[in-house]
Amino acid sequence: MSENTLPAPFSLVRLDSVGSTNDEARRLALSGAAADLLVVTARSQSAGRGRRGRVWVSPPGNLHCSTLIRIHNLATAAQLGFVAAVALVDAFRALVPGIPFTCKWPNDVLAEGRKCAGMLLEPEGTDWLILGIGVDVAQAPPPGELVYPACALADLGFDGTDADVLAAYCAAFFPLVECWRRLGFAPIREAWVKRARGIGDPVVVRLEGETISGVFAGLDDEGALLLDQGPQGHRRILAGDVYFPAV
Ligand code: BTN
Repeated sequence: MSENTLPAPFSLVRLDSVGSTNDEARRLALSGAAADLLVVTARSQSAGRGRRGRVWVSPPGNLHCSTLIRIHNLATAAQLGFVAAVALVDAFRALVPGIPFTCKWPNDVLAEGRKCAGMLLEPEGTDWLILGIGVDVAQAPPPGELVYPACALADLGFDGTDADVLAAYCAAFFPLVECWRRLGFAPIREAWVKRARGIGDPVVVRLEGETISGVFAGLDDEGALLLDQGPQGHRRILAGDVYFPAV
């Protein structure tokens, strides 16, 4: 561990190599050491995990961090993924000007259409959300291991460090999480939609045991993806992988 290098109200625990920063954050919460906006980072992860049980390749140079966020309603906690996605897009746009960074439903960030960051949200009890974020800063994973095309910020000309990305992300995240706490999801939804990839475009959505297609019609007021299936009407999607077919 090293000293705090994030501005209040964040606090920082920096580790060298861990299994998963989400597990470290959970361990801190269970040991009574949780604090709102406590960020755990690790130089590398030996068991980094992504959504839907996937492996998250976590070499040194990339950002692996998990933030403990105090919540009061587990039912709305997943909205924090949209808060973080907006913050990441704004941070990346400031760090790497001129690159079209966008939000991809539900919790990814794309650079020129390729994934450069993902999130894994896990509750701990009813009081804490663990918001795990992985950013490919220095290197993207090898193509063979991927379900989406990926790229690293370094591939786009960024020559800073994972610590620079964390600082920019935290600076963008704090006002947004305060906004969400005061005003709820509506302003976050609006900000996310403005930065979203593919609204109005055809998409394929892979669900557990089913693949469906339609037009990405938007986000509802709880964060579900609205899929326009023409004569079959709109379908609300709560979890799935979205693909944009090549046109
Ligand atoms: C995804 O896109 O599938 C989510 C990736 C989340 C990766 C981050 S890295 C920090 C935290 N620790 C983990 O084990 N996973 C998340």
